[in-house]
Amino acid sequence: MAEITVTTREGKDIALPAKPGMSVMEIIRDGGIDELLALCGGCCSCATCHVYVDDDFAVAAGKAGADEDDLLDSSDHKTGASRLSCQIAFTAALDGLRVTIAPED
Ligand code: FES
Repeated sequence: MAEITVTTREGKDIALPAKPGMSVMEIIRDGGIDELLALCGGCCSCATCHVYVDDDFAVAAGKAGADEDDLLDSSDHKTGASRLSCQIAFTAALDGLRVTIAPED
């Protein structure tokens, strides 16, 4: 089974099982990490699923789309590694992905 590792706001690393077809947000939510609010349920309108993608996976995860990037602009914590986790579709190329949950805005 593929997996991702999520670093929480407290700095704890948690490995979670991941399946292609899920978004990274769904993997984190289904893994029981409730500090990732994902209030809009994944329709790219809330920015409460903000994560930082580890540099090693920046290419495989791809760049934020225009709407996603606009929404990330509303965060005080946007960096070059920022993505909305609901907009990252998990694929086999992302096995081993590491993301860090961004601070709450
Ligand atoms: S869950 Fe709302 S933008 Fe990702």
